Amino acid sequence: MAGLVECSGTAIRFKARGGGWTEALAATDLRLAPGSFTALIGPSGCGKSTLLNAIAGFVPLAGGGVAVDGAQVTGPSPEVGVVFQQYALFPWFTARGNVEFALRRLGLPRAERQARAEASLAEVGLHGRGGAWPGQLSGGMKQRVALARTLAAQPKVLLMDEPFGALDAQTRATMHELLLGVWERRRTTVLFVTHDVDEALTLADRIHVMASGPGRIIETIELGDRAARQGLDYLANRNRIIGLLRHARPHGDET
Ligand SMILES: Nc1ncnc2c1ncn2[C@@H]1O[C@H](COP(=O)(O)OP(=O)(O)O)[C@@H](O)[C@H]1O
Ligand SMILES: [Mg+2]
Repeated sequence: MAGLVECSGTAIRFKARGGGWTEALAATDLRLAPGSFTALIGPSGCGKSTLLNAIAGFVPLAGGGVAVDGAQVTGPSPEVGVVFQQYALFPWFTARGNVEFALRRLGLPRAERQARAEASLAEVGLHGRGGAWPGQLSGGMKQRVALARTLAAQPKVLLMDEPFGALDAQTRATMHELLLGVWERRRTTVLFVTHDVDEALTLADRIHVMASGPGRIIETIELGDRAARQGLDYLANRNRIIGLLRHARPHGDET
């Protein structure tokens, strides 16, 4: 099965404003099994986006490597899809136009692009809504289009960086169901960044907790078989993660 992600000793640093370096990500080992659903949780600035961007091939590494199905990542690839909190839809394209535009770089014939765009819009519940303009769509609907755009390229790995962070609770719950449905059908490997404990516990089968200074994974929680999960396990894991996050904050930062 495809979609194996392996980070080995992956390290990233940025030039700090006052000179010197910010160690955004200390040498990190991370393995995402094909078809797994992993959450990354941690306080703001701990390196969650940095780690995700490393896997996406968006940032140069200071050390180590990232491989997808055994091939080193050297830059962005359609095999690794990314969804951000900001939908980044083109306002001058319809929903369908946004999805089709994203497929152009795959070099697919026009008919194939159209068919794939329709299928992925239908998959996110936007059947018949392809003609809508981004300005006419709610935040949840725009994020559906953004997800459809990413899915249309049929990625083996789906990276999501706080994708539902700007949505209200009800819309977010709907998006969780939608995403789990997509994942169960496609079995795409998912890495989901969030700072919401309940979101991580609802979606993932494994949670990595990160801390800052330098950015690193401090603990991994296996949630086990989805069907066998008990309410008491949920609460125990929730308390454990909240306790870890309390210590993961930089000193003196109480926000
Ligand atoms: N492009 C960049 N240039 C300089 N510093 C950056 C850049 N991106 C992130 N950082 C720094 O790296 C650290 C980790 O950032 P980030 O991965 O965005 O954290 P998170 O997503 O967990 O909030 C922070 O200290 C942040 O200021
Ligand atoms: Mg971030």
